[in-house]
Amino acid sequence: MRSFTLLLPLVFLSISSVSAVPSPIDAQAVFQRPFSGFSSNSFKDAASHFLSDAKNAILKGKANMERWYHDGKEYIKQDNLLYELVSHPSFSEHQLRVTEPTLCDSSVKQYSGYLDVAEDKHLFFWFFESRSSPKDAPLVLWLNGGPGCSSSTGLLFELGPCNIANDGKNTTHNPYSWNSHANIIFLDQPVNVGYSYADDGTTVNSSPVAGKDVYAFLELFLNRFPEYSTQPFHIAAESYGGTYAPNFASVIYKANKELQLAPTPKLKHINLASVVLANGLTDPYVQMGSVPDYVCDGPYPVYDDPEGPQCAALRTKVPTCQRLIKSCYQFNSRLTCVPAVLYCNTQLFGPLMQTGLNPYDVRRKCDRAKDGDLCYVQMKWIETWMNDPKNKVALGVNPDRTFASCNMDVNQAFTMNGDGMHNSALLLPELVNDGVRLLVYAGNADMMCNYMGNERWIGQLETKFSKEFSAAKAVPWVTTETGRTAGEVRSAGGDGFTAGNVTFVNIYEAGHMVPYDQPEAALDLITRWILNIPLSLNGTKA
Ligand SMILES: *[C@@H]1O[C@H](CO)[C@@H](O)[C@H](O)[C@H]1NC(C)=O
Ligand SMILES: *[C@@H]1O[C@H](CO)[C@@H](O)[C@H](O)[C@H]1NC(C)=O
Ligand SMILES: *[C@@H]1O[C@H](CO)[C@@H](O)[C@H](O)[C@H]1NC(C)=O
Repeated sequence: MRSFTLLLPLVFLSISSVSAVPSPIDAQAVFQRPFSGFSSNSFKDAASHFLSDAKNAILKGKANMERWYHDGKEYIKQDNLLYELVSHPSFSEHQLRVTEPTLCDSSVKQYSGYLDVAEDKHLFFWFFESRSSPKDAPLVLWLNGGPGCSSSTGLLFELGPCNIANDGKNTTHNPYSWNSHANIIFLDQPVNVGYSYADDGTTVNSSPVAGKDVYAFLELFLNRFPEYSTQPFHIAAESYGGTYAPNFASVIYKANKELQLAPTPKLKHINLASVVLANGLTDPYVQMGSVPDYVCDGPYPVYDDPEGPQCAALRTKVPTCQRLIKSCYQFNSRLTCVPAVLYCNTQLFGPLMQTGLNPYDVRRKCDRAKDGDLCYVQMKWIETWMNDPKNKVALGVNPDRTFASCNMDVNQAFTMNGDGMHNSALLLPELVNDGVRLLVYAGNADMMCNYMGNERWIGQLETKFSKEFSAAKAVPWVTTETGRTAGEVRSAGGDGFTAGNVTFVNIYEAGHMVPYDQPEAALDLITRWILNIPLSLNGTKA
């Protein structure tokens, strides 16, 4: 497989058919530049150097890994960092290490640190309280995709309380942060993504397996911070998150059902209210089939002539791609799923990569020499900021750990397992029919997970709402604050009095990362969705 260099799994792809050697972002170099004077050993002291005097006073004299109790809480010193230790009798394999940073948005309460899984897997999280009435605010878990990309890219580039700025030297306040009306968790998963790590080189390459750790994380977090457990919980995920989120939501849903049958006071019911899929990859059969339609007949055509040779050539690739995906759906094995990833990615996306366009936003060119393989220079800025030892220590991260916005090894592990070719949409009807709401939205300039394919698969989803959704016309979505028509919405359920049970939103003038391109509109959308307020005044009845 080494010679196969075109890894185009959804979203963050290293487009190596174009640039011969995949050059996963040069995090090491970014990291070493400003601090090349330090030896690895002196990093052992770096942590205490950046800690507050108070924390240093507590840590002084304690042996590394020492644990102690104070005020009914357990603490641990590790890598010269101080954490509160949170454990749970039902999860003997798991513990949380928690610290309280003040970076990014010092006006709200924050927690960050690690979920430790069985001594060898460690998942990094960063939580921000809502800017308004946190006690009444819903809880949102945000996940970026890749697979292999850190949720800190969503945090610092898209929808978090601060935006990366100034080559990564600094961040700026984001007035459109999704914590405006929500408590929000950013989780780096699976292991080896972002600040998350494994001690023994463990990798995770399947969404169902990753889901077990996410569930344990939520239980530990909500048992330690029960104040965030009473309001509705939403799982929102972008891109490859369209595969993760239905899997994770399904794990949570099933655990809730088991709890209903055999209640145990130690485990919390997680108020799973909705699944939000943002420019996701969920039903690859339908979505891959939409690629030529989007590219040739979409709002931002990549080729001038929809009947021309490029479009004709692209269309001829669809039947084989779909046949391979169908066999992955049927036989569900690596043997059937990997060929589907490889064929569809190279044959459908390969030619499009040669156009020099940004596949995440076809309105723009991608200058890979300048902006990196991911087409956004901010991905490098984020690495600069996240690799600053000061910021690491503030977040409870060992300063020796190197951060990459997207980990291409994780990406490859999922690709070579064929994970992304499964039909994750199949997991959703059971949830939707039992009251879990579903929002699928897509920026209309994204080519990787285009809006047409997303609208098609949600339209084919067999739920109680199928008929109503099929009959629902697209109506304008006008943002509350500016009165601008930001897109259009199709929705079923709620008779126009809610944001709907099954809702699709096409977002105008936005690429793959909608909150980056349309921050005000994205906040309007997520706020109305989690508060369950109609997205359109037209109602939803045809
Ligand atoms: C970062 O931003 C803060 C607040 O805007 C400012 O005070 C500080 O000088 C900036 N630092 C750098 C390195 O630009
Ligand atoms: C639709 O969503 C509402 C919340 O807006 C929920 O109460 C209701 O149970 C859902 N409908 C069905 C049929 O699941
Ligand atoms: C939605 O409402 C607007 C304003 O009232 C109206 O102009 C438009 O025709 C309506 N669209 C549909 C599809 O009902």
